Amino acid sequence: MNRRLTLLSAFSFIASVWIYSQGVNNIIVHTNKIGTEIQPTMYGHFFEDINYGADGGLYAELVKNRSFEFPQNFMGWSIFGNVKLLNDGPFEKNPHYVRLSYSGHPAKSTGIENEGFFGIGVKAEQNYRFSVWARGEKQKIRVELIDNDSMGETQVLIAQELGINSKEWKKYELILTPKQTLDKSHLRIFLTSDGTVDLEHVSLFPTDTWKGRENGLRKDLVQALADTKPGVFRFPGGCIVEGTDLTTRYNWKNSVGPVENRPLNENRWHYSFQHRFFPDYFQTYGMGFYEMFLLAEDMGAEPLPVLSCGLACQFQNTDEDAHVKLSDLKPYIQDALDLIEFANGSTDTKWGGLRAEMGHPEPFNLKFIGIGNEQWGPEYPERLKPFVEAIRKEYPDMKIIGSSGPNSEGKDFEYLWPEMKKLKVDLVDEHFYRPEEWFLNSGNRYDNYDRKGPKVFAGEYACHGKGKKWNHFYASLLEAAFLTGVERNADIVYMATYAPLLAHIEGWQWRPDLIWFDNLRSVRTCSWYVQYLYGHNKGTNVIPLTMNNKAVSGQDGQNGLFASAVLDKDDNTYILKVVNTSDKGQKLNIEFKGIKKSLAITDGKCITLHSDNLDAENTLDDPNRIIPIEKSISVDDNVLNTEIEKMTFAVYKFKLSKK
Ligand code: AHR
Repeated sequence: MNRRLTLLSAFSFIASVWIYSQGVNNIIVHTNKIGTEIQPTMYGHFFEDINYGADGGLYAELVKNRSFEFPQNFMGWSIFGNVKLLNDGPFEKNPHYVRLSYSGHPAKSTGIENEGFFGIGVKAEQNYRFSVWARGEKQKIRVELIDNDSMGETQVLIAQELGINSKEWKKYELILTPKQTLDKSHLRIFLTSDGTVDLEHVSLFPTDTWKGRENGLRKDLVQALADTKPGVFRFPGGCIVEGTDLTTRYNWKNSVGPVENRPLNENRWHYSFQHRFFPDYFQTYGMGFYEMFLLAEDMGAEPLPVLSCGLACQFQNTDEDAHVKLSDLKPYIQDALDLIEFANGSTDTKWGGLRAEMGHPEPFNLKFIGIGNEQWGPEYPERLKPFVEAIRKEYPDMKIIGSSGPNSEGKDFEYLWPEMKKLKVDLVDEHFYRPEEWFLNSGNRYDNYDRKGPKVFAGEYACHGKGKKWNHFYASLLEAAFLTGVERNADIVYMATYAPLLAHIEGWQWRPDLIWFDNLRSVRTCSWYVQYLYGHNKGTNVIPLTMNNKAVSGQDGQNGLFASAVLDKDDNTYILKVVNTSDKGQKLNIEFKGIKKSLAITDGKCITLHSDNLDAENTLDDPNRIIPIEKSISVDDNVLNTEIEKMTFAVYKFKLSKK
């Protein structure tokens, strides 16, 4: 018996040497070693109002500066005739409104026109809900969608009259259904009677929002988020959490309650980069924390809010005084405790009651909270500490996320990780916007991380390719390669989110981004497809996968290959992800070792993402240039012999069934 075994192992050794000498990569999937559980939160989304991601993007409001609260109150509007701005309106936190009065001559019109966000995109035969708060007696306005770009002439796409007859402020609505599609229409309102009307909170939404909600979100964009099956949804940023100064930090309490009374906030992305200056970029908070919790719930993702730790953006503020003193931190900590109450508290609490009033009596089951975004220096841990103590005291089960700063390594990173361990946070947020080389060399980043400390949240990452190509195929291929290392180390990495998420093609500040859009269309980038393939093939447990007894992480001698394997217990499926970053096709001999005799790996499928042109990208005009292709694939005696094309991300899936 022993002799037989020795002979067998000698044979298999010779076979593997032979295979190797034939230029075959001999990979073993150790199916008898079911490894660590993969967290349901593993692949998710990072959302921030950057690149017109919320206002002008995901938030489906089509009117810019609807409450006349921008510092230049008529920004986004043109006015004609007898129009006045007043500031004793019905909404305390947005007091401005306009008064339209008869010009004194029937030929001289009075009115206002809104340009939207890079125009107002409307589709033929779709309904748009116009609403306005107004007061006036026996007055009339005409509401129009117009095309004033074509050949210098204004064409009215659709117009409707609205009677205003209330002394007191009242909300009025009508539906506009244009007959033609136009990406850059304008909204125009004329006073058509001979008196005075006051108008406030002038709004226009498609009725066909995500789930048909009023004050809703743009359907195609939410669909693109939901389609990756995200396990976690981080919001509201990013740097906007911190603010350029503390008064402009994201204040969640201002983002809940009736939309009309959510005060405007500056958006730091309007001026952060002078070469991408957008003076009309503000946060209306129309898509606030309630809407973000709801979105996470809709997508089946864990909500992960991140709050200010009392430090204003440290890039922009070197002065100590810009930050909250430790002795004044209490209200910030209270904000965090109140947010947990808003999300989870019973309806008879102050903040849980507000959640119920807004339409969600059931709790949102918040489990994670981030404190601080990209912070550094001793000023961060000393502020984080009292947050951790207070949250632990009231909500011992809440998972707290601390930051390791803006860099993936280096002085701040080295300093903060031990500090986070001392504070015993549950997860540490790491950010890496890094070049191609970094991604190629980081397949084993997490292999030797300390297993006893906090877990990792790879909270913002993207491969920043060279040259002019930004969302090109090669960058996404390297992200796929890097993620094999994340997956392999699922015992320490609990979450990973690409960043940023959304970008308006005319209004971006930062790229690459996961999804691009204009006023009517959106495109899923190659990086999106990588997220999609990981999100849909997450599995439940890691299975060790080796080549020459080593993890396959693109190291020397591994032919540019990166690979990981998981088992999906719910589906009895083995899923292998292999990324060939080399410029040659690679032969693969993949052995599923340890399969019980009564069971077999049956034929499965192989899904590949590939482009012959590494610089190619999906665009709004050519959105399906690079998409996954699925083929059937056969295994023979639990061994898969195949070849992975050069520069390809492949997902192999096999069912485990009874013989
Ligand atoms: O994702 C863009 C920005 O990158 C985020 O706001 C910030 O956290 C990081 O610097």
